[in-house]
Amino acid sequence: MSEALDTSHELVEVLEDLRRHLLWQEENGGRVLQVDARLAAELRAARPQVMQRAQAPAPRPAPAAPPAPVSPPPQASPTPATRPPAARATLAVPETPVIARPAPVGLPGVAEGERPTLDQIRRELGDCRRCKLCDGRKNIVFGSGNPRAELVFVGEGPGADEDVQGVPFVGAAGQLLTKMIEAMGYRRDDVYICNVVKCRPPGNRNPEPDEVTACEPFLRAQLKAVQPKAIVALGKFAAQTLLRNSTPITKMRGNWREYEGIQLMPTFHPAYLLRQPAEKKKAWEDLQQVMKFFGKQPGQRG
Ligand code: URA
Repeated sequence: MSEALDTSHELVEVLEDLRRHLLWQEENGGRVLQVDARLAAELRAARPQVMQRAQAPAPRPAPAAPPAPVSPPPQASPTPATRPPAARATLAVPETPVIARPAPVGLPGVAEGERPTLDQIRRELGDCRRCKLCDGRKNIVFGSGNPRAELVFVGEGPGADEDVQGVPFVGAAGQLLTKMIEAMGYRRDDVYICNVVKCRPPGNRNPEPDEVTACEPFLRAQLKAVQPKAIVALGKFAAQTLLRNSTPITKMRGNWREYEGIQLMPTFHPAYLLRQPAEKKKAWEDLQQVMKFFGKQPGQRG
């Protein structure tokens, strides 16, 4: 992709974040905006020198180190004679700074290094009140599918339909995801589907850092329980949370990464694909890499 095209996609991402933030503001009757403005005024009054420093142009960053090559992932199981060649090596993209977030804590009741069960994790989550998302939720959306799946899809957080039903990816984006899964030769029940946060962010705004921090140990525990051979991270939130980076999804997608020894393929979120259908082709290319990893042909079940 050309630099110009790359930049325009990043702009689309930023505008999308802004759109969702404004929707959230609207849902809150502008209250958040008022509080933000008051807070900013108080900060300005209290700490003018800090604000001035914050507004000063940032120092130019040191030139980035050259990207390290990423080796192709090993195939999931022994290669039969008919299987296509191993997944193509991908060019590494330089990681942008790791997101500063407290290290996720282990789950109480599950010993370090022990493989938890999904039931244990769900029990531990309980009627969760660990972050403010609990205030507006109708249901916790824990995850669904095969607890021993070879492939896990990780999304961002429940939307309105998921909140009502308590099941991930059942709305419009979910229907597209189901089609994508089936096009890969799986049934929805063959794979496991979950999200970074388990409660609906109001107005479908982005989850906030404290909400991600509160929920992340449960996502990590779910992946430890399922132990898939590959993960598809749907959208920048899932990819950035699991990989602990802040690289735009446009740079990450289509390139194999590794999460705790598991192959991870970042791709576009289905909700983004509904808004930008021309991008479906790229997402399909990413999923074909995953199929290649599992030695699957389009339309081939099992
Ligand atoms: N979007 C997500 O990221 N997850 C869902 O469960 C539904 C929509």
